[in-house]
Amino acid sequence: MCGIVGIVSNKSVSASIISALKKLEYRGYDSAGISTLINGQIKEQKCSGRVDNLEKILFQNPSSGDLGIGHVRWATHGVPNQVNAHPHSSEAVSVVHNGIIENSDTLRNEYKDKGYSFKSQTDTEVITIMLTDFLKQNDLINCIHKTLKKLEGSFALGIIFKDYNNLVVGARRGSPLAVGYGHNENFIGSDSYALKSMTNKISYLDDGNFCILYKEKVEFYNSDKKKINKEIFELSYEDNTAEKGDYRDFMSKEINEQSYTTKKCINEYLNTSKNEINILNLPLEAKKIRKIRLIGCGTAYHSCLMAKYWIEEFTSLDVDADIASEFRYRRIKLDPNDLYIFVSQSGETADTLAALEKCKKNNLKTCGIVNVLESSIARNSDLVLPIHAGPEIGVASTKAFIGQLTVLYLLTLKIAIDRKDISSEEYSKLILDLRNIPDLIEETLNKQKDIQEIARDFIKAKGTMYLGRGLSFPIAMEGALKLKELSYIHAEGYAAGEMKHGPLALIEDGMPVIVLAPKDRFYEKTISNMQEVIARGGKVLMITDDTSETMSENIRFKFQIPKTNSSINSFLLTIPIQFLAYHVALLKNCDIDKPRNLAKSVTVE
Ligand code: G6P
Repeated sequence: MCGIVGIVSNKSVSASIISALKKLEYRGYDSAGISTLINGQIKEQKCSGRVDNLEKILFQNPSSGDLGIGHVRWATHGVPNQVNAHPHSSEAVSVVHNGIIENSDTLRNEYKDKGYSFKSQTDTEVITIMLTDFLKQNDLINCIHKTLKKLEGSFALGIIFKDYNNLVVGARRGSPLAVGYGHNENFIGSDSYALKSMTNKISYLDDGNFCILYKEKVEFYNSDKKKINKEIFELSYEDNTAEKGDYRDFMSKEINEQSYTTKKCINEYLNTSKNEINILNLPLEAKKIRKIRLIGCGTAYHSCLMAKYWIEEFTSLDVDADIASEFRYRRIKLDPNDLYIFVSQSGETADTLAALEKCKKNNLKTCGIVNVLESSIARNSDLVLPIHAGPEIGVASTKAFIGQLTVLYLLTLKIAIDRKDISSEEYSKLILDLRNIPDLIEETLNKQKDIQEIARDFIKAKGTMYLGRGLSFPIAMEGALKLKELSYIHAEGYAAGEMKHGPLALIEDGMPVIVLAPKDRFYEKTISNMQEVIARGGKVLMITDDTSETMSENIRFKFQIPKTNSSINSFLLTIPIQFLAYHVALLKNCDIDKPRNLAKSVTVE
């Protein structure tokens, strides 16, 4: 999604803006641009494609200027070309925007009637025109305030003005914006990660507020244009390890980190001497919870689905998993005795955040499971459970998924033991099995070569299916999502038992089908479904912990995962499905870390 940077300094800012934009590239984007103020004139430079293209433009035509704004755009209104790239500037102002202005058509018509003309197809340009218009008869504060008041929708903005040569303005409603403090320079950025190389002192703009950055100070204003104070946080540098190292791309690095991710997460939550899970202060006492509702998008939704199976397996609670974009608009009977759990790597996904806000408005008890501790979901949840995965840069989520599973599994066991739904013997056994998972993940990671071989079968495939039952079904869904995201091959994750009700019609000679068949209580049923696929010519890649040779002659390939407690096979099934998507994408020459059309942090609806 779009990323914003703004800097006011006592030195030239364009190189710092470019390097901060590079930090935001991971969010997914299709064009980039920068505006600086040089000798009282706004200089705008922008292009379609990558920040590297912008850097080349700046190399040929350097920009000095000690204040400026930069942007990476993920197109919503108007195709991703140079004209629609941000910033959008008039002679008087230049604007970068993340979000969607919902009343832009109305505003466009209003200002066209006033005699203004528009260059781009974007919703953002109305902001430029409105600021330009209000500036004619208002001071800076009133101009900003009046403009923001007329806007409907969500936005984070960075603005510079021709006639104010010592400041950059930031504003937000809905979309996040961080403010960073330097020595004789200050910054705004879509997230603190973009600013990490420049400062570790950060504030977060509150919803509806705006700020004015000068090089020696930052002023904050609320939605009534009253000056307010803001708390400054010091970010830790602990997890600032977002470098590829020797890996070809971030995704392979992140897949390979998953043994460490689970180990770290388990260590953070488990008091090994007492065998206790350190999840304290649940917003609702475990015994009093009526129902659990889990909410997320994309991969995070699949974690929710996984947790639904675990909660059903180990507790007597009723549980539901919902896609956030549906949850936020459904007429769900919200109950104060229910616990609402929001799962999000970034903690900024617009739909998940809106679903959380819906719950907050109804005074419900909320828990956020996030990777980014400074995120909006973390800041707005009653209880925050971090997944401790460190920065995840690849757009397709991998180590964050494993981290989410780890926290959700621990949370399930904590609730189960507190409610006395499981005995202490069972609890101890389950904890012991979980503690072995990092080593078993490591073992599975070492078998990457096996998957590399089979990936060739998928390059020319028209489509594929991932089948699983029970606890393997959410991983089948995640496998299909990974393949779609990375290799652009149509894939469906299906409950194996549903095959006969339609999808079996798709199976034709040579079609690759992935069957997740660990030896759990669903095994026999899954094998029957697999036979039906084989009988119709499907070429099966079976992922299982079954070591017998029974099926070998009928299946194309068998990937062996290590044996563990059947409730946590999902951790191990995840590794081959990630590797498969990765290797197919690699063979197809796809952009592994930045798949087309996708964004890491989806901050618009
Ligand atoms: C985007 C990403 C997915 C991610 C989803 C939810 O679509 O491309 O990888 O699963 O957002 O993101 P979140 O940050 O809320 O986990």
